Amino acid sequence: MLPLKSDEIQVFLKGLKLNFSLDFTEYSEASVHRRLSRVCEQLECDDLEELTQRLESDTNLLIEFLDQFTVNVTEMFRDPFFFQKLLPFLELEVKKDYCIWYPGCASGEEILSLAILLHRVKKLNYCKFTGTDLNEKVLERATKKWVKRRHIADYQRAFSQVTGDFDLLQYFEDDHSQELRLKKFVELKADYEVHDLVSLYWEKGPFDLIVCRNVLIYFNKELQDKVFSFLIDKLKIGGVIAFGSRESVFFCKSYNQLEVLDRDARIFRKIG
Ligand SMILES: C[S@@+](CC[C@H](N)C(=O)[O-])C[C@H]1O[C@@H](n2cnc3c(N)ncnc32)[C@H](O)[C@@H]1O
Repeated sequence: MLPLKSDEIQVFLKGLKLNFSLDFTEYSEASVHRRLSRVCEQLECDDLEELTQRLESDTNLLIEFLDQFTVNVTEMFRDPFFFQKLLPFLELEVKKDYCIWYPGCASGEEILSLAILLHRVKKLNYCKFTGTDLNEKVLERATKKWVKRRHIADYQRAFSQVTGDFDLLQYFEDDHSQELRLKKFVELKADYEVHDLVSLYWEKGPFDLIVCRNVLIYFNKELQDKVFSFLIDKLKIGGVIAFGSRESVFFCKSYNQLEVLDRDARIFRKIG
């Protein structure tokens, strides 16, 4: 790992905020250090000063930088128990014009997972998904409704844990390429757009369901608190919100607006 000094990281982050309106100053320090070090290696920069110069002279590099800097790991039916816990609420509550927001959706595998489950309980037609992320490149992939063939065995196992059915392939076109595309009969209505949670602003909403898993972990506590409140503001009263199982949201100021539906699965309802 390329060694980077804390003060040069701060200078770099301030420049990014000033010149590109990208604010990572409240991301967790350890994660920023790791990611910047990796980006420098990938883009063959000796230090952050060189990276700054390259970003300033080539605006196209910004998309590449964001792609390298953000952690976009995702998978279908990630933490199967989460879907097992969420599904009963959705079966009961989803009705016409049910709006679902997935902030930090990365390449969209979570959305495909929920869409398949909702299709199975005949509720998908009522739902409209919006997937957002800071990283334009992963979102572009999400619009294709693809999953990678090399992961399908893992996804089938997770799917069978949630549903008891192993046959995930029934939902995907298989043209023997590296990607499998969601079949049209799963009528997923989804929009994808670039949105930065740190802006704490978005004209859309309110939503019936917000699923923001494994995103807040990259922020420091202050930013987690602010983004958490922003998400709660974007939720309808009675709406459901979910976070990642490793994400501790219990300290957040707006936490008292929620009631716990499932603590381990981090599923809550907005009550006030
Ligand atoms: C580890 S992935 C989580 C993907 C998915 N939610 C899951 O749990 O499988 C984290 C995602 O958060 C996105 N992200 C990071 N900072 C963000 C921000 N400020 N606004 C919106 N998305 C952000 C990253 O680009 C990345 O795609």
